[in-house]
Amino acid sequence: MKLRNRFHLRRGSATLALFMQHPVAFSLLPLGAALFGTALVVACSGSSAQGGAAPPPCPPLAASATSNATPVAAAPGGATSAWLDKSASPDERASRLVSALTESEKLALVTGYFGIQKDWNHYRFAEARPQSAGYVPGVPRVGFTAQWQTDAGCGVATQGEAPRELERTALPAGILTASTWDPALAEQAGRMIGSEARASGFNVMLAGGVNLLREPGNGRNFEYGGEDPLLAGTMVGAIVRGIQSNRIVATVKHFALNDQESGRTSANVLIDEAAARVSDLLAFELAIEQGKPGSVMCSYNLVNGVHACQNDWLLNRVLKGDWGYRGYVMADWGAQHDTVLDANHGLDQETGVSVQGKYVWLDKLAAAVHSGQVSAARLDDMTHRIARSLIESGAVDDPVRLAPIDFEANAKVAQADAEAGIVLLKNAGGVLPLGTNVKKVALIGGHADRGVLTGGGSAQVYPPGGNAVRGLSPEGWPGPVVYAPSSPLAALRAELPHATVSWADGADVAAAAAAAASADVAVVFVTQWTAESRDFPITLPNDQDALVEAVAKANPRTVVVLETGGPVLMPWAGRAKGIVEAWYPGTRGGPAIARVLSGAVNPSGHLPASFPRRLEDLPRAKIYGVGATPDLKFDVHYDEGAAVGYRWYDQRRIEPLFPFGHGLSYTSFARDKLAARVEGEELRVTFRVKNTGSRAGQDVAQVYVSPVSGGWEAPKRLGAFAKIALEPGASRDVTVTVEPRLLAVWDGAHGQFRIAPGQYRVLLASSARDTGTSVTVKLGERLLR
Ligand code: BGC
Repeated sequence: MKLRNRFHLRRGSATLALFMQHPVAFSLLPLGAALFGTALVVACSGSSAQGGAAPPPCPPLAASATSNATPVAAAPGGATSAWLDKSASPDERASRLVSALTESEKLALVTGYFGIQKDWNHYRFAEARPQSAGYVPGVPRVGFTAQWQTDAGCGVATQGEAPRELERTALPAGILTASTWDPALAEQAGRMIGSEARASGFNVMLAGGVNLLREPGNGRNFEYGGEDPLLAGTMVGAIVRGIQSNRIVATVKHFALNDQESGRTSANVLIDEAAARVSDLLAFELAIEQGKPGSVMCSYNLVNGVHACQNDWLLNRVLKGDWGYRGYVMADWGAQHDTVLDANHGLDQETGVSVQGKYVWLDKLAAAVHSGQVSAARLDDMTHRIARSLIESGAVDDPVRLAPIDFEANAKVAQADAEAGIVLLKNAGGVLPLGTNVKKVALIGGHADRGVLTGGGSAQVYPPGGNAVRGLSPEGWPGPVVYAPSSPLAALRAELPHATVSWADGADVAAAAAAAASADVAVVFVTQWTAESRDFPITLPNDQDALVEAVAKANPRTVVVLETGGPVLMPWAGRAKGIVEAWYPGTRGGPAIARVLSGAVNPSGHLPASFPRRLEDLPRAKIYGVGATPDLKFDVHYDEGAAVGYRWYDQRRIEPLFPFGHGLSYTSFARDKLAARVEGEELRVTFRVKNTGSRAGQDVAQVYVSPVSGGWEAPKRLGAFAKIALEPGASRDVTVTVEPRLLAVWDGAHGQFRIAPGQYRVLLASSARDTGTSVTVKLGERLLR
């Protein structure tokens, strides 16, 4: 049956199937019910799909002090209410709460259920939000809030088979927000989606995806921040800050090295620690440091032989030890595996429980605590971490309530993000912007008459107005394919009142070519839908390359607009005059694209990832495990180590199609007066940027660093960047500080970063391939931390 298949597929390994092999699960239910009292409904089910043995439907929870309409009520006096004292620190309050809780109440706080209220979910709670990812009941006796968890980075998402879709503002994809290279804008974007989460009754947003783009074909690249640890960590950290400014918790995920979707629950990523510390782990470290998320989600995959959610090294040593992380670790939905190992190795909250017997904690954790396999202190620590994060965020003192949403204002935030993150990749002969001399434009393909594409899976947001293009495959998980109802065609017609803009859907290639031939300029939209749970070839689907070739042949003034979740191959790149990467541009993607094409917006997006010329140029032409059966275990060798993206291309001296950091503007910039000096212990870089063109614009200045004597995984790393807005003719002096960890290598023997003494080259450039200008500076030895 469809729902079951979807769930099975989505959560990867044996879920329902495995449960069916373990009928003993039902016999544990009364124990679970007894342990958890009324706070947690376990001995119940709504599913008749289980083949007869299912218990009766779940009764609604006893009225909770945390229900949507009711603020947290004062708990009974004495020890049970001492934690509510707002003058105490979050730590102190969490400690008081933990001492006021019974063991079963603590167990309740560390166990999360699937939020969606469908038959296959055996744990259905009256208070859960029916479209959502997760729900953790509160503890009404002491006035502690329930946790309502929603996906994700592009806004408030709706789970695949939700009864009614929640229509919420679709922020552009994470990869587009990263393309803005503007942390202040990313923070504003985070603030907007976080406000919609709060107004929709959620106090935990599962957003803050920061897995590095190692595989251009990863189906979730659209959710993340690109290939570079500094850029991704900074941008995602800013989104997290914005979300949490709404007094809710954000979640940095998927920790760690979950850089592909093929075999995501069974892939065993092999990488050495020194490489991981200056690549994937650094992205997380920076995002966590800068965003201070209340929670971190451990991932499905294995890292060096151990599941991420029971990986002592990752969770206890790196995250909670070296990085001093005080928040809680929640499992990705179904990523929990073993009660004792998970608990002792750093997992604080089981999540997404939906199938009886297919859980790790509940009564099993109680039994492990009673037998001493998991200490009572560890259970207290889990509870303390969860409570502390919710208190610190403000979600406890300022409970979430349904509230009106100003969709108009929020759409403007989404549009500003899109306009700053759309990347002009090529503009031969100044084909763009479309000036008043252009009288006839042929717009072709990509459903551009109706809307703009969004990414699929758990991050799927249904924008106001619903899906503009229904019925595309796949309609089931990780679909449906959703287009935001924001028509580039309508927007371009409004932008170009002096021109005629014709429309051809591109299905008939000859008709499209004929339309192109009779126009001054042809604009072809090409799309690639990507989604969670699978990887994708990086070739445009449905013969769109042939469509572009035919149109470009018919009209030499052809502009291609891409809506993709990550890099794709462009065999026609030499024949298109203009190329624009619009990613998944969100709720107001239509006007954002049209305004870039018309010149109302001067493009300022820069690539957060390299675009390869050919598959063979990648560290792996084929992603490990593509097409493998879900439970097949396999190794993923990250032999390229920390040489991800441009670092790889530099090391191998391979010319990408478009390099990391690349992005054109309708104006031009000059940079000079580059100087580098050590101030205190920091490396400061100063330079001047001037807008030498005739339009206002924004430059993205990139500072790359490298030891003159070599010795890193690659010739250079991005060490700092700045986005600078300048009126025509204006100039500005800029100072940036190089992130010290990007000057360092991981010294495994001492467990810290070490900057080797010597000469370093500091390069100021406009992309990873730009030779720019450079200076050298001498650095002394420095141990970090
Ligand atoms: C995804 C997470 C998501 C969770 C809840 C998982 O399948 O990997 O990113 O937050 O589901 O929907």
